[in-house]
Amino acid sequence: MYLFSIKIKFLAKTLVFDGFGAFVKGFLTSPLYICVSSKHRTYMFNIILFGPPGSGKGTQSEKLIEKYGLKHLSTGDLLRSEIARQTPLGLEAKNLMDKGQLVPDEVVIGMISSALEANPDAKGFLFDGFPRTTAQSEALDKLLKLKQTEIGVLLAMEVSEEELVKRLLNRGLTSGRSDDTNETVIRARIVEYKDKTTVVANYYSQFDKVVNIKGEGTVEEIFSALCSEIDKRMS
Ligand code: AP5
Ligand code: MG
Repeated sequence: MYLFSIKIKFLAKTLVFDGFGAFVKGFLTSPLYICVSSKHRTYMFNIILFGPPGSGKGTQSEKLIEKYGLKHLSTGDLLRSEIARQTPLGLEAKNLMDKGQLVPDEVVIGMISSALEANPDAKGFLFDGFPRTTAQSEALDKLLKLKQTEIGVLLAMEVSEEELVKRLLNRGLTSGRSDDTNETVIRARIVEYKDKTTVVANYYSQFDKVVNIKGEGTVEEIFSALCSEIDKRMS
């Protein structure tokens, strides 16, 4: 989003008359000049797409980043990429992810910090699966403040537990994600969400940034509800 900032500056210059009253010596520079600065200033709009495992964060993120030109940052995807490359971080994270537990805050905060650094020209970020604890929320706010920006809105998708389990077991048939194949692990992920992550919405509601969205229905219906909330806040 660009703002054409029009600055009108009136520069009063002292009119200097010589002692003989004849003439203006100094009408040196314009008493009025209009400086039209068409410098493009980019205002970032940052979104947290929030919800339990299987609520549709990844599905909706793909559509939202395309529509709004945002940079998608999914800590789950970043961690799976570490696992695929068999990095020490990935191997450590896999242990926890396979049990449905969160990986340590400092790991994901470090990943997000690097990703923000790596995208200095982003129009805005769409955070998916991050933040997941109060410590992560506070760290994110600090990182964004350094970039002179902030979270615009947290969109929380609400889906019943039985629907989540059904969706994830179904995805587990083809996704290759080890945390999708076992119902016990899926339920452990949901418990972890309730215990440690729901507080993130409380954290942002103190700044009046939380909007709840019905996360059941067709993908298009949910997308339209998300866009309508974003449009209200972006304008
Ligand atoms: P992460 O990868 O973030 O997974 P998650 O939050 O558990 O959520 P999912 O990705 O499984 O679901 P989703 O909400 O994206 O839904 P999706 O669109 O895919 O995290 C994985 C693990 O990494 C965590 O458990 C943790 O260990 C670790 N981790 C990640 N971030 C972390 C952090 N910040 N801190 C600490 N640890 C972290 O949809 C699911 C399925 O439903 C799909 O098959 C989709 O096709 C289907 N679907 C989508 N929408 C609909 C619809 N409207 N109707 C019917 N089906 C639908
Ligand atoms: Mg996801």
